[in-house]
Amino acid sequence: MRMIDTIEGLRAARAELKGRTGLVPTMGALHAGHLSLVGQARADCDAVMVSIFINPAQFGPGEDLSRYPRDLPGDLAALEKAGVDVVFTPTPDLMYPPGFQTWIEVAEVSRGLEGERRPGHFRGVATVVAKLFNLFQPHAAYFGQKDAQQVAVIKRMVRDLDFPLELVICPTVREADGLAMSSRNAYLNPEQRRAAGVLYRALSAAGDAHAAGLRDPDALRAIMLDMLRAEPLAEPEYVSVADARSLRELDAPGDAPMLLSMAARVGATRLIDNRLLPPDLNNRADLTAVLGG
Ligand code: PAJ
Repeated sequence: MRMIDTIEGLRAARAELKGRTGLVPTMGALHAGHLSLVGQARADCDAVMVSIFINPAQFGPGEDLSRYPRDLPGDLAALEKAGVDVVFTPTPDLMYPPGFQTWIEVAEVSRGLEGERRPGHFRGVATVVAKLFNLFQPHAAYFGQKDAQQVAVIKRMVRDLDFPLELVICPTVREADGLAMSSRNAYLNPEQRRAAGVLYRALSAAGDAHAAGLRDPDALRAIMLDMLRAEPLAEPEYVSVADARSLRELDAPGDAPMLLSMAARVGATRLIDNRLLPPDLNNRADLTAVLGG
């Protein structure tokens, strides 16, 4: 595995790779969710490339940039074991040189949900991901369902800016109680960790109601919100029932795939989660077609 921290080094390493290449962009503190993307890239591609970069541009002023979890030695060991070919670990100065002033704004799809609560977040994500696509020139790039709006933003950017690559969207990897794996779960104390399972329980309750025939978006939202409110340690931020392709909020039942999503605080930790309905869409092929296609 080659570890690289310069632009020239990355270009040289990339030029040596043969066949189909896959890129997995990350911010490190890797867990089984990240490694599922790496495993999928390993299965699909001749060479696997990973970036580890805590992107300052996607953190808002009051957010957790300075205390975001870091574990470079652990990450490198896990990536080596997973058979990764190239790891890129740039510094903020390398990605944002003095005088940097070029930003990518994916207007509409960045607006609701996470974008509304985290102004500037998707501008930071789109800009860094565009830079990584230019630097790595991968044939395929791997992203997680966990960040469904991020996928929608990147999908739009790939289309609008003609990046010649394929997006592959991998299902959310969960803990035993359903909590979506996240680097931020490390912030939770044991009591909060127990409470954090409520996001998955809320998504499941709405899924069960849907399976029993409930289609009204407001009723599905109410089920999720009630479940979140029943957990004293959780503070819901939003619940959403949206069209899975456009991410527009639904006001009437329909046949198109729906994205159920939510954000909640448990203590100071902000958690997000989502699922698609109908439930059989939560697999790589359908996620890639619906969210990334
Ligand atoms: P990060 O949060 O490190 O996530 C890197 C990738 O792993 C993302 O595509 C994310 O959706 C995926 N991922 C995270 N948790 C997952 C889980 N439980 N199951 C499956 N996939 C999971 O997302 C980012 O970094 C950044 O915004 C980035 C795209 C790297 C740009 O800075």
